[in-house]
Amino acid sequence: VSALVKLPIALVMKNKNAFYSVFFGNKARKKLGELFQSLPQKSKHFILVDSHSLQHCYPNLLELEARISQNIEILEVNPGEKSKSIATAEMLCKVMLELQADKHSVLFNLGGGVVSDLGGFVASVFKRGITYYNVPTSLLAMIDASVGGKTAVNAGMYKNQIGTFYPPKAVFVLPEFLETLPKKELKSAWGELIKHGLISGGIFWDEVSKTRLHSSFIPQDDLIEKAIAVKVAVVKKDPYEENLRKVLNLGHTFGHAFEGMALNSKKPMPHGIAVAIGLCVESCIAYYKLGLTKENLAVVFQVVKRICVLPQIENTQVPILWQFMLADKKNAEGEVLTVLLSDFGKVEWKVPISIHDLQLGITLYNSLA
Ligand SMILES: NC(=O)c1ccc[n+]([C@@H]2O[C@H](COP(=O)([O-])OP(=O)(O)OC[C@H]3O[C@@H](n4cnc5c(N)ncnc54)[C@H](O)[C@@H]3O)[C@@H](O)[C@H]2O)c1
Repeated sequence: VSALVKLPIALVMKNKNAFYSVFFGNKARKKLGELFQSLPQKSKHFILVDSHSLQHCYPNLLELEARISQNIEILEVNPGEKSKSIATAEMLCKVMLELQADKHSVLFNLGGGVVSDLGGFVASVFKRGITYYNVPTSLLAMIDASVGGKTAVNAGMYKNQIGTFYPPKAVFVLPEFLETLPKKELKSAWGELIKHGLISGGIFWDEVSKTRLHSSFIPQDDLIEKAIAVKVAVVKKDPYEENLRKVLNLGHTFGHAFEGMALNSKKPMPHGIAVAIGLCVESCIAYYKLGLTKENLAVVFQVVKRICVLPQIENTQVPILWQFMLADKKNAEGEVLTVLLSDFGKVEWKVPISIHDLQLGITLYNSLA
C-alpha cells in the first residue's frame, strides 16, 4: 500500500462502472463552487448536517451555495451515533419527499462520519439511489469515513449492521473545518491516523510516527492528504472488502471489544482511542504470533502514548473482551480472525487467535502500558 498517491484520485468501483474523485483544499473549494452552480435547476437539493456542522461549517459554504440557494434545503439531525438509525433515515426520506425531492435531487453530507454514513445510506435507498457528495468536517471523516463507499446505520446497540456499498460522486475535503473540531475528536481520529501509518509503512509511517503533536492536534494538510491516499489505495484494490480492505480493521478486533465493554459499563470511550489501545494489544499478540520485533513494538506504544494514557487491563476483563471479540464481523466458523502487523507496512488478515493468545498479549501490553 502506497501513501504517495497525489489527490485527486479517481476511484473505480468494480462492477458498478462508477468512479469518483477526492478533492482537497483550494481545489475542493473551487470544484464545490462549480458543482453548486451546475446542479439541475428544476430539482430540489439537500445539505445534511448535524447541529454542530450546521453551526460551525455551513456558514463556510454559504458563499459557494448562494447562487442556487432557493433550490437547496438544509436537513438537520442531532449530533451523535443515535442519529445513525433506520428511524432517522426514514424520517429524512419522508421530509425529502415532502420537499418534492426527485430522482435528480442531489444530497451533500456536511459533517462527521455519522452524517456521511447516514446520508450515504439515505442516498442509496431514496428512490433506489440518488447522487450524493461527501464534505467531511471531522478528521475521522476526512481520512476514513467519507471515502470508500460504505454507508450504514446502526441496529439498536449493534453498529453498522444495516448498510450498503454506495459510493459518493465526489468527496471535498476542506481542512479548515478542523479548526472548530473539539480536541477530544481530533485525538480520537489520530488513532485511525496512526493505523493508516502502520498499514502503509515507509515514508508515511515515518512522518506519522515523528510528527510532533502541537497542542491543537490538527495534522498538517499534507499528512491528512496522505492518510486519505492510504485509504483510497486500499479501497481501490478491494472496494467490497473481499480481501485486502480487511487491513483497515487493524486494531479494530480488540478496539471494538474494548469500546463495547466501555459502553456496557457506561463509560463510553472515543472510537479512535479504543482503536489505538487495540493497536497496542494486537501488536503484542503479533509479537508472539508473527514475530513483530520488540523494537517495533516499543515504537507503536511510544506513538500511541502521545494521544492517550494506556489503561491497565484486568485479568477478569479478558473473558468479557473475548466474548465481544467472538461477535466480530470478520470471524468465520467460530474462530476469532484478527488483522495483525508483522512489520511496519506489512499486515496479515484472517489470523486466527485463541483466548490464550489474547491473555498472553494483554500481559505483555500491561507491562508496556
Ligand atoms: N463508512 C466508513 O467507512 C466509516 C469509517 C470509519 C468510521 N465510520 C463511522 O464514522 C462515525 C464516526 O465519525 P466521527 O468521529 O466523525 O463522528 P461524528 O460524526 O459523531 O463527529 C464527532 C463530533 O464532532 C462534531 N463535529 C464534526 N465536525 C465538526 C466541526 N468541524 N466542528 C465542530 N464539531 C464538529 C460532530 O457534530 C460530533 O459531535 C462512526 O459512526 C463510524 O462508524 C464510517
